[in-house]
Formats: sequence, C-alpha cells, structure tokens
Amino acid sequence: MSESQKTLSNLLRETRRFPPPAELAESANVTAAAYEEAANDRLGFWERQADRLAWSKRWDEVLDWTNPPFARWFVGGELNVAYNCVDRHVEAGLGAKVAYHWEGEPGDTRTLTYADLRREVSKAANALLELGVRKGDRVAIYLPMIPELPIAMLACARIGATHSVVFGGFSADALRTRIDDAQARVVITADGGYRRGKPSALKPTVDEAVADAPSVEHVLVVRRTGEDVAETDRDVWWEDVVERQSDQHTPEPVDAEHPLFILYTSGTTGKPKGILHTSGGYLTQTAYTHWAVMDLKPEKDVYWCSADIGWVTGHSYIVYGPLANGATSVMYEGTPDTPHRGRWWDVIAKYKVTTFYTAPTAIRTFMKWGDDIPARYDLSSLRVLGSVGEPINPEAYVWYREHIGANRTPVVDTWWQTETGAIMISPLPGVTEGKPGAAMRPLPGIVADVVDDHGESVPNGGGGFLVLKEPWPSMLRTIWGDDERYVKTYWSRFDGMYFAGDGAKKDEDGDLWLLGRVDDVMLVSGHNISTTEVESALVSHPKVAEAAVVGSTDPVTGQAIVAFVIPRGAAGEEVEGEAFLQELREHVSRKLGPIAKPRQIMIVPELPKTRSGKIMRRLLRDVAENRSIGDVSTLADGTVMDLISAKLPDAK
Ligand code: WT7
Repeated sequence: MSESQKTLSNLLRETRRFPPPAELAESANVTAAAYEEAANDRLGFWERQADRLAWSKRWDEVLDWTNPPFARWFVGGELNVAYNCVDRHVEAGLGAKVAYHWEGEPGDTRTLTYADLRREVSKAANALLELGVRKGDRVAIYLPMIPELPIAMLACARIGATHSVVFGGFSADALRTRIDDAQARVVITADGGYRRGKPSALKPTVDEAVADAPSVEHVLVVRRTGEDVAETDRDVWWEDVVERQSDQHTPEPVDAEHPLFILYTSGTTGKPKGILHTSGGYLTQTAYTHWAVMDLKPEKDVYWCSADIGWVTGHSYIVYGPLANGATSVMYEGTPDTPHRGRWWDVIAKYKVTTFYTAPTAIRTFMKWGDDIPARYDLSSLRVLGSVGEPINPEAYVWYREHIGANRTPVVDTWWQTETGAIMISPLPGVTEGKPGAAMRPLPGIVADVVDDHGESVPNGGGGFLVLKEPWPSMLRTIWGDDERYVKTYWSRFDGMYFAGDGAKKDEDGDLWLLGRVDDVMLVSGHNISTTEVESALVSHPKVAEAAVVGSTDPVTGQAIVAFVIPRGAAGEEVEGEAFLQELREHVSRKLGPIAKPRQIMIVPELPKTRSGKIMRRLLRDVAENRSIGDVSTLADGTVMDLISAKLPDAK
C-alpha cells in the first residue's frame, strides 16, 4: 500500500458527523434546493448570481465556450469592480457601515467605512492616473497588510488597470521576475510593515528588484513604519501624491472579460505562472461563494479571514467577495503570536467576530500552543468557521470545532485554488452534515469528479484525480502571456476536463476527500512552492553541484521542504557542517523568500535517477519521511540509495 493510500484508509475510518445547528439551518442563506436548481439549469443559476452585482451594461450571453478552454463569461456585459465593491453600497445608504476594522500589529487601529473607502480609493485612482497608469496597464503591489493594500487594488480596478499583488515575504528576485513578466509600469510598496513586534522593511527589496526592471516608471511608497529608506529617482510618496488628490472619481465600466488581476503561482517548472482573472465572472463567484459558504448576513456578521492578501485567499475573501457583499470585515496586519499567543482570539473577542476563515497550518500551530490559550477569550460570537489551503486532518478539524467553535459552530473545509479564483468544493453550513477531513460536495453550479488514469469517473469508494468538468465563472482565463502553457498544464491531462493536480477520493456516500498534490508542487503552510524553484535556488549557490527537493509530511506546516544536495567545493572547503547548511538555507531564503527555506538539508554523494535522468523524488521522500525505501528497480544505478542511506544515520 502506498503512503497516500494508507493516509486514505485512516481518513475513511473517520465516522464522526456534525449536522448543522438547527437554528443555522433554519435561517441559512442557502438550502439544499440550490443544488437542484443549479443542476437543472447551470447557466441560469450563474446568471441569477451575476444579478447580485450592478452592471452598467447587461450581458448578451452567459457563457461562450465555443473555443475551449478559453472561456468568456457574461459576454458583452460591462461593470466596474470597484464600483460594485464600494460605491454602490454608499449609494444604497450604507456609507457609514464599516468595511474594515483594521488592526495593526503594534495595536494601532483604523476603521474604514464604505464612505471612507470610496474617498480613499478615488484619491488613489486619481493618483495612478496622474502617474500615467491607463486602462489595461499592469501595476505591481508589494505591500504589508495595511489598508492601502485593498485601497490600491480597488484603485486599479476603478481605472481598469490590472494589479499583480506580490506577497510581501517574497525576495527581490521573485518580485523582479513577476514585475518583468507582467511588464508593470508602477510598483506600489511601503517602507515596511510590522512582523513579530518589529518593523520589517520592504522598500530595500523593491529597490533591488526594480534596479533592472526597465518597465517600471514609478514606485509609489506608503509610509507605514517611518523607518529611513533610501530614495531613488522613480520614488514618489503616497502621502504626497495620493493625499492631495480629489476624492471624487467616476469609475470606468469595463468589459466583463477585462483583466482584473494577475496572481503568480508556482509551477512544476521553474517559472511562476501568472494566473489571469477577469472581472464579471470572478466577482460573481467570489460574491456568491462568500455569501453561501460563510452564510454571510451582511447586516450583522463580522467576518475575518486571517490570510494575507498576497495570496488568492486574501484577494477573493478579504477584498473582492466580502466587499461585493457589503460585509464588515476585520483585517489584521501581523503574526498570531505578537505580542502573545492569544492575539487572534483577542481580536475575535474585541470585534465580536462571527465568521472566521483560516488555514489548517495555523490551526495545528494553535493546537501545539495549547488549549488553554483560546480558553481565556470570549469566542462566543463565532457561528461559522472555515478552513482553506490544504487538506485539514480530522484532529485539527475537531480541535477547531471544539476549542474555537465551542462544539457548536460548523466547520467548512473549502477546496479551491489560485486558478479556480473562488471556492469550488465545500460543505454548506446550513445544509451539509460535516465529516472531519472532507470537503464534501461541489458547490451548486460546479461540476467536479474524481477520475482514474484514463479519465473515467471512479465509483464511490474509489480514488484518483480531481477534475472539473464544466467551466465556472471565476476560472482562470489563461496564464499571462502563455496560452499554450495554460492548455498544457490544465487541459491536456484529460480530454475536455480541467486537471487540478490534486489527488482525491469519493467515499461510500460520494463525498469528496482531497489528498494533496499529485505533481511536484509542495504545499507548505498552504502555500504552493515548486520543487524545481527551490532546486534552482540551491544550484545557484556556487558550492552546490546538484540538488533535489521533496515535500515531507510535517505536523505543523502540512509539508516541509527537504533538500538533498551534492556539494562542490575546492579542496579543504567546508561543505558539510552546520554553518554550510545554514548558509544554504539563507541563500534559498534570499532567492525565494523565507517561506521557501528548507526545513532540512542533507548532503549526499549522489541523487537517485532513472535511466532517462529523471530524479526519483519518490525515493527521496521515503528517506525524508524516514521510511524504508520503496522499489528501486528503475534506478539507473541501484547502489545510489545505499550510498545515500549510509550518509544518513537516521534513515532506514
Ligand atoms: C492547492 C491550491 C485556495 C487558496 C489557498 C491555496 C490545496 C486548498 C484545500 C482543501 C485540500 C486544499 C490543493 C490545491 N488545497 N484548499 N480545503 N483541502 N487541499 O491556493 O496556493 O493555489 O493552492 O491547495 O492542493 O490544489 P493555492
């Protein structure tokens, strides 16, 4: 039995069931009828969801799928995304309603009502226009979790510019690759943000990244920490350029298929993929899913998604979905253990958060820190808990429900991807009887399945690959600048189906259990990192000859990065000791960002390869996870694993 099959049979032994609380079921936004409604008329269903938004011109056709896999949703329709997220709520008399309760890590706070947001976004939009940004131009955004981040995104949307948000933890190299690929004309950044109780600089990374990024004409800098920063010719300060602008701006309607943003995600080959999302379909599905899955009651809920806006979760469920729905959200700048390990629970108690959306890796960290910490806080306002980013193991699910949700709140395990733009598979809190560890069913309007190697649907009880069988409104439209790679990566594995790259299983009831990636992409704390990316970073070090990287199961981060390195060094050079390993880890961190730092690096004399030269990561995974080594019959050199094992005292 393979390791993933073992995990699976453990999972399927899970028999705990959690029906929706009666009160929630009675007043839930969505009932079981929605599944039927959508199954009977899928396009009609999505059309009704698009009516949640304000369109300046109605569409002529719901879906154009005449040139698959290139979809066009709400063809001919026009709208402005920022208008939908901001102005229309003000026009509906909700200007005084809080859009964001923002909480800085040092304890400073800002409250932004929808009226405030309209003024701030308008000023930022006017500033971008003054800086020469026009409809269709790309703007890179590299900001900490401060209000200027959603403001900058919405300002782009308001003028029809396409944003590319780059997570603040990425290195200068990673930032430069993304700026170059998108040919961004402006970069919006800050002097820094607060992390772990200290200012953490961002500007020096931007300076390094744009030094040889000729597309960049201006760098717009927000002052957050007040620390000294070097200034360059291209810099302009937010406080100078944005603050003096008029707070009036008329949003520009764009085509439903106008590019809203690019967000980069790791691929199995080196170069990150610029996932392109457009306007009408994306906003329709983020708004619908946020309302349906979180059972959002905009008049009374206080919603908090703890993700960073640098990832798709933040785009869809801190910015676009919640704002399109006129929700009140919490936004928090910093880390969960600053100044103490109860900070998140403190935030929930302070703002009386009702709906909380976080990741399994965070939940496992809290489990490790101890039950007594959340127990000190009043979490009784909570009514729905969500999870996203990787499979949630049943223990973490049950702990989350018990210790955060007082054994009362449903937990919704939501499966989706940067590419899908919005939640695809998830329980509905007022409908579904929850099973710890299962994402359950595709949402109304979504058609997913598990297929075998030949693309045949597997029966209940069977396992295979997760696919999506029909286009959906918030699907990626392409990979920026690379239609061919889009087709090859997602639509070529199985005829006419979207290949998600995840393994999955259908249980006896037909409910879905997601099992993680089947390709060479690792999921570290819910973030996609490709093995190739880390390998390239390692071999760019002068003392590394060859490197192979695998994801190894980790109790806290889901997977952790383990690297096998063949060193090269002039005679007498230190290429083994702790200092060398530390140097390599720092090197990767500098190249890709701290999140890609290997947990462990093993120095080895050889790497296991097939005759065609492909590294057999499966065997290295066995080593990394301390298992006996599997079938070695396809190795070019059968003795390699012995050589590797001999170097590693704790490997079998
Ligand atoms: C990959 C996508 C979606 C936002 C965060 C990640 C894994 C995500 C779940 C879940 C099992 C999950 C998949 C997917 N994943 N949510 N609920 N259960 N696996 O976005 O970086 O594009 O990663 O995350 O493996 O393919 P992403």
